[in-house]
Amino acid sequence: MATDEHLARSRAVWDRKSDRYGMSERDFEPIRETAMDYLELGAGDRVLDVGCGPGVNFERLRSDVGESGSVVAVDYSPEMVANARERVDRHGWENVEVLCADATEVDPDGEFDAAMASLSMAVMPDARRAVENVYRLLAPGGTFVVFDLRRVQTGPARVFNPLLWRFLRWYANWNPENDVLEALRTVSDETDVVETYAAGVGYTVRCRKRPDSGE
Ligand SMILES: C[S@@+](CC[C@H](N)C(=O)[O-])C[C@H]1O[C@@H](n2cnc3c(N)ncnc32)[C@H](O)[C@@H]1O
Repeated sequence: MATDEHLARSRAVWDRKSDRYGMSERDFEPIRETAMDYLELGAGDRVLDVGCGPGVNFERLRSDVGESGSVVAVDYSPEMVANARERVDRHGWENVEVLCADATEVDPDGEFDAAMASLSMAVMPDARRAVENVYRLLAPGGTFVVFDLRRVQTGPARVFNPLLWRFLRWYANWNPENDVLEALRTVSDETDVVETYAAGVGYTVRCRKRPDSGE
């Protein structure tokens, strides 16, 4: 599927799901929380949430960066963004900003100490370009943590891969041409798979940008 077509379908799929995200929010919460531990955020940090959906990571990210830090979030689906902004307004969070944009092109001012992408990179039309853009926005020494899904890697359960692929394609506009991990390994200075779940289908990766990369 062409990039523009995939992006348009992505918007339609996620607009539709924007008001029915409660189950995904609850079921994946412990994994997201563990993934966000790897950001090692501190008070005053600036963090980017890529493909934020309805803002499921905001409370934790905001709590880690404190009043003096800030969260900038981006999502391509206008309905997801509306839900995320509604969450921000409801809580009165003044240091959380939500942008409606494509992760491959978004260009907020300034650098980020860290970036988080949960369950979003594999559904993008071009994960490699999205990774490159996020990496560009990271400050030297910054951390990018990705929690995502992929095919079963080894063992007999690989027989389920075509089924898994079809389901994720239908449910989430998953892009089988994306190899998120490969993109992270290519673009990032340091890439570690730090957690795996369900025969490696779920995985969390921590990437670091070298502190001297801006010199
Ligand atoms: C499965 S949801 C993940 C939401 C949330 N991060 C979570 O952990 O549940 C995937 C999100 O990625 C967004 N997305 C897909 N392609 C995108 C793109 N190119 N740029 C920005 N966001 C995108 C979708 O609109 C959707 O809200």
